[in-house]
Amino acid sequence: MSYSHIRFEVDGGGIALITIDRPAKLNALSGEVIGELDDAFARVAAEESIRAAILTGAGEKAFVAGADIAELAAMTAYEARRMALRGQAVLRRLETCGKVTVAAVNGFALGGGMELAMACTVRFASEDARLGQPEVKLGIIPGYGGTQRLPRLVGRGRAMEMLLMGEAIGAMEAQRIGLVNAVVPRTELIGFCRAWLEKVLANAPLALALAMEAVDAGMNGGIEEGLRFEASAFGVSAATEDRVEGTRAFLEKRKPAFRGR
Ligand code: COA
Repeated sequence: MSYSHIRFEVDGGGIALITIDRPAKLNALSGEVIGELDDAFARVAAEESIRAAILTGAGEKAFVAGADIAELAAMTAYEARRMALRGQAVLRRLETCGKVTVAAVNGFALGGGMELAMACTVRFASEDARLGQPEVKLGIIPGYGGTQRLPRLVGRGRAMEMLLMGEAIGAMEAQRIGLVNAVVPRTELIGFCRAWLEKVLANAPLALALAMEAVDAGMNGGIEEGLRFEASAFGVSAATEDRVEGTRAFLEKRKPAFRGR
């Protein structure tokens, strides 16, 4: 698929940089953008050479300023429901793609933009970023998972406040409540994300994927199911060549050379 509204670049280290590229509309998520992101996330999941992805927005102002309000304004109730189900499925595919994904929040992350960021593994924000779920100001509620992921990330009380007030918060406040992991100067944001990923990607690839799956299983299924999954995944990780290499390298006082097997 060729893209008109996003850019997709993979560097030599297997890190995909996905840029939502519609700056004149603050990178709003139209149906076409969602379709292109769906294709991009499928590539991230399927292509073995891609080890991680960074998502960001084009231009100086926004990560993503939400779903496309012009499209929303013209929808029937049935179309809006279909739009929500599709967006939810695309973001869920991102969340469960098996690779580490980083949202580089470089400005406004509102509505669907904040929901997109929350579907990533972690979020880093520029100092001038603003994050919020303003849907109630438009007479709607979040439809791309915001009511579900936000309380899981920041707790019920803070999530309620953001969802009911509809006011955006600044990057430092977002970090304080655990919505973003770190705040860095805008010009350093992508470099920071790459450096963070390089450290993570030095670890055993199968262990990374299993750890993410175990967290997902527990967050969505409760502690009993999560613990069962963790024990099985621990068993699987113990059967990998990387476990042999990792433990041996420790004992031999050298760096491990993981191969993802
Ligand atoms: N959908 C469609 N278009 C959007 C958009 C969205 N979510 N967010 C911004 N745009 C468009 C604006 O309509 C404007 O287009 P125009 O130049 O053709 O008139 C352009 O992007 C620039 O936005 P503008 O509002 O002029 O920028 P600003 O700096 O004054 O304000 C925001 C920035 C983010 C505060 C403001 O754009 C905003 O509130 N956007 C909507 C956020 C929102 O409610 N998102 C949730 C949607 S469910």
